[in-house]
Amino acid sequence: EALSDFGARVVAWQKRHGRHELPWQNTRDPYRVWLSEIMLQQTQVTTVLGYYARFLERFPTVLELAAAPLDEVLTLWAGLGYYSRARNLHACAQAVAALHGGAFPASAAQLQTLPGIGRSTAAAIAAFCFGERVAILDGNVKRVLSRVLAFDGDLASTREEKRLWDRATALLPAREVDRYTQGLMDLGATVCTARKPDCGACPVNDLCAGQHEAERYPIKTRK
Ligand code: ADE
Repeated sequence: EALSDFGARVVAWQKRHGRHELPWQNTRDPYRVWLSEIMLQQTQVTTVLGYYARFLERFPTVLELAAAPLDEVLTLWAGLGYYSRARNLHACAQAVAALHGGAFPASAAQLQTLPGIGRSTAAAIAAFCFGERVAILDGNVKRVLSRVLAFDGDLASTREEKRLWDRATALLPAREVDRYTQGLMDLGATVCTARKPDCGACPVNDLCAGQHEAERYPIKTRK
């Protein structure tokens, strides 16, 4: 069976075996989804949970975050690391307030113009909140897709990374892209892990070109 089935398999697996109860799931509020995606960029889910709850308690809306002093945002962020994320978070909230009347723009292309929102984060927000059919490609998904495709390009190269983006876009299912996107994230976190991937539990192992040499992928020389 060919990769034409890939998206549908990931979607079906997510429904049965994926994560469904994380606090940023079961909402289409872009503020809540955006906050979770920024926190999860370099931090584990278990660490994010407490910070996420405290942030939303103090700043229930993007307008309240925009109106807060930066110092207070940094204090709430303390311990999460990568403090440029907190500065961008505050700048992004202020941009949403000043340029968009307090409503996050509803497309990946527009989201990507905001501070701290790169291509993959923009796509995740657009897929989860607006059902937009766009590919994500964060660190975990790079690993999953480069294994499935036995992608031989060096991801330290911008050109090769673009090629993988194109392949990721070509793999998108026609529908349920929100479910598919969460499925790719869940596969990367629980099955197609960096070390000791559990190929026996993978819903696409029969389609996976890299499964017998999973540790080779992703190929990434230092820059
Ligand atoms: N990491 C990044 N986005 C995530 C999400 N929506 N759920 C779980 N882990 C994630």
